[in-house]
Amino acid sequence: MTAQIISGTEIRKAILGEIKEEVDQMKEKHGKVPGLVTILVGSSPASISYVTLKVKTAISLGFHEIQDDQPEDISEKELLALIDKYNNDPDIHGILVQLPLPKHIDDKKVLNAINPDKDVDAFHPVNVGRLMIGGDEVKFLPCTPAGIQEMIVRSGTETSGAEVVVVGRSNIVGKPIAMMMAQKGVGANATVTIVHTRTKDLASHCKRADILIVAAGVPDLVKPEWIKPGATVIDVGVNRVGMNEQTGKAILKGDVDFDAAKEIAGKITPVPGGVGPMTIAMLMKNTLRSAKLSLGMS
Ligand code: GUN
Repeated sequence: MTAQIISGTEIRKAILGEIKEEVDQMKEKHGKVPGLVTILVGSSPASISYVTLKVKTAISLGFHEIQDDQPEDISEKELLALIDKYNNDPDIHGILVQLPLPKHIDDKKVLNAINPDKDVDAFHPVNVGRLMIGGDEVKFLPCTPAGIQEMIVRSGTETSGAEVVVVGRSNIVGKPIAMMMAQKGVGANATVTIVHTRTKDLASHCKRADILIVAAGVPDLVKPEWIKPGATVIDVGVNRVGMNEQTGKAILKGDVDFDAAKEIAGKITPVPGGVGPMTIAMLMKNTLRSAKLSLGMS
């Protein structure tokens, strides 16, 4: 039987609709809207395209959006001063510094300068710590893991007591999603295993998974025979494997052999159109949450 496809594009649409409704209500009741600043240093085409999409989405939701583009040669001190300015701006609830930064700037220093209560990427050590503690302590979840959890929940996948195997141990995806799935709460309460490049017999771990989350950055790493029949498979990989000569666009492939895997899995995310579209939606959700917290709304 062919798996149910979990469409990130569809789920994103639903989430953005929900956010828009809340923004409209906030404006009506409090005369305020969420404020997001996106800081882009330099002119990397990939970063420009990511930031443009973030800005467009924020504007479409009625956010107060500041696109603050800075030259490649901005000094670290100047960038830190800019962050300080937005930390102290009551109309700004979320500060996003697009990564990577130029080599002469210490990105850790910059990310750590963002007020943790405006850190909508959830990269600041305070927010990483809050995630580890869980429950009410959590202000923001990192965007890609939050998107993964939303897809799991909204596709009706049972997580309580489920065997979750996470392939990859990055700070941005593998480690936080593993922690989130192991916490108490909705879309969690799972038994979690993290596997990585030094794991012996990757296949045997994957075969146990009721929910398999793959964030390794290796095209077609996961073979169909590694998938437990009926499992939910979340493919976080976005690997450029070539160029479509007609459109000039990159050909993208996930970390899972999708065509074969969809004949075995119960539910599966495609690439593109799976986890990717969710990340910006969760950034918007974090910015809305920050605005609500600043207004004393729950
Ligand atoms: N560069 C690529 N992805 C991201 C992201 O999620 N956040 C930031 N700040 N920079 C990025």
